Amino acid sequence: MAVNASGNMFFFGPPARQGQSRAPAKVRAVRVIYTSTEVFPALKTGGLADVNSALPAALIDAGVDVRLLLPAFPALVNAAVNLTPVIHLKSPFCRPDVSILRGQLGRVPAYLIDVPQLYSRTGSPYVDEKGHDWPDNHLRFALLGWVAARFADGTVDGWRPDIVHGHDWHAGLAPAYLAARGGERPASVHTIHNIGFQGEFAAETFRELALPANYFSMYGIEFYGKVNFMKAALHYADSITTVSSTYAREIQSPEFGFGMDGLLRSRAGALTGILNGVDYQVWNPNRDSYLAAPYSRLEPANKSTCKDSLRMALGLASGSGPLFGVVSRLSPQKGLDLLLEVLPALVAFGGQVVLLGSGDPALEAGYRAAAARYPKDISVTFSYDEALAHRIFAGTDVTLVPSRFEPCGLTQMYALAYGSLPLVRRVGGLADTVCDANADNLSAGIATGFVFPDATSDSLNACLKRLFALWKQPSQWAAVRDNAMQQNFGWGPAAQRYLALYRALRPLA
Ligand code: ADP
Ligand code: GLC
Repeated sequence: MAVNASGNMFFFGPPARQGQSRAPAKVRAVRVIYTSTEVFPALKTGGLADVNSALPAALIDAGVDVRLLLPAFPALVNAAVNLTPVIHLKSPFCRPDVSILRGQLGRVPAYLIDVPQLYSRTGSPYVDEKGHDWPDNHLRFALLGWVAARFADGTVDGWRPDIVHGHDWHAGLAPAYLAARGGERPASVHTIHNIGFQGEFAAETFRELALPANYFSMYGIEFYGKVNFMKAALHYADSITTVSSTYAREIQSPEFGFGMDGLLRSRAGALTGILNGVDYQVWNPNRDSYLAAPYSRLEPANKSTCKDSLRMALGLASGSGPLFGVVSRLSPQKGLDLLLEVLPALVAFGGQVVLLGSGDPALEAGYRAAAARYPKDISVTFSYDEALAHRIFAGTDVTLVPSRFEPCGLTQMYALAYGSLPLVRRVGGLADTVCDANADNLSAGIATGFVFPDATSDSLNACLKRLFALWKQPSQWAAVRDNAMQQNFGWGPAAQRYLALYRALRPLA
């Protein structure tokens, strides 16, 4: 790839044969409008934000002309640089007009949809301070999809994308608005990060969405009498991706499909799993300013300094047992109720636990009680704390991710990089990224963590027993940790797979 004087990127074809012109075949970069809601570090409620900062950057490295499209939430406005208005659009469902700003978020060009009465609110992008969905969420996120589709005519900033790539239900209406345009249009790709969140609204909201009346049908955006943004995406998108191969299979089954399994089976030919990656600029124990001391696979000695420092900071006793970490939303998805059940056994075996998370009040109460019962062995912090999250991956021996379902999961991959062996349930992306320390994998030298099959405390307990047995063999443990730290889940391969998908949808002349 090369960049010409005007900054346009070109891919050069194969070398010319003898006698042919030497002029390289020029193919312009694929143009993608990447439509979502949160981007690390400016605004993050979960792994989606990490993906939305690293994947667009990796796509740029792969030669894609990718630009973000996001609501102008205050945190994004504050983080963006060189913001300039580029166009005012007349939206069919909000007054006054919509102003589109262009700027830069990190390395990635970004358009922000500036409608203060919809987006300029304190707190989370999705819920109010009491945790209730904003009552006008259908309009707030319909507008996101509608603006994405407006890029199709090339009037926004004089730039016409080849691909409209939306993420999760918030961008779910983009493929529907594109389909409603008809004619020549960009191709649509929709990525499912979590099929459990679908953006479901009362039927009456449909008439506010400015879509053709016949779109409110079983073969459209209607789902059991309601408007469903995720269903719209799954029905109208030209291509559907999700964030691991195993999850792509799982969501076609009733157990994991949250009601969308039938539709997904019918669209199986358009559905692919592309595993997320790790941004090793952010997650590298050798260059992590949050840590008490740097360490690496080849020089792991300082990991014990990080462990001592974490225990001391959180008031845990020192000892010779393994320290377990949890960095997670506290939601039914994450299976932390199972962990709560096995905590007494874990402590009896000589283990300690550090938990950082927030969410479900019943789970918080359970963990608070456990910490009160074992104050020297269990520490709980109910907040969102980026620095502590890094210190936990560095200071622990094991990271627990006992999820009931997990589309990809990023924390187990961060844990691998930090030599905190992941203990995970065999679902979704967890199954695709962790290799169990069973006898065969240990002797083959490929184990990187611990995997248990069933969402039951017995299954988790049996896995813990195997873990404590390995802990008693320090050289074996060190070998598994060494394997774990060698794993490379960089974003390059994922970016190449998205690029191949874009090219298959829109071959460029
Ligand atoms: P999900 O998106 O389902 O919550 P992921 O594993 O994909 O799960 O991503 C979670 C992201 O959020 C990771 O970057 C993790 O470090 C971070 N995270 C989760 N809980 C907290 C917390 N309480 N404080 C800081 N970071 C957190
Ligand atoms: C969702 C999923 C998580 C995934 C993340 C990023 O939040 O729950 O498994 O890693 O999206 O794709």
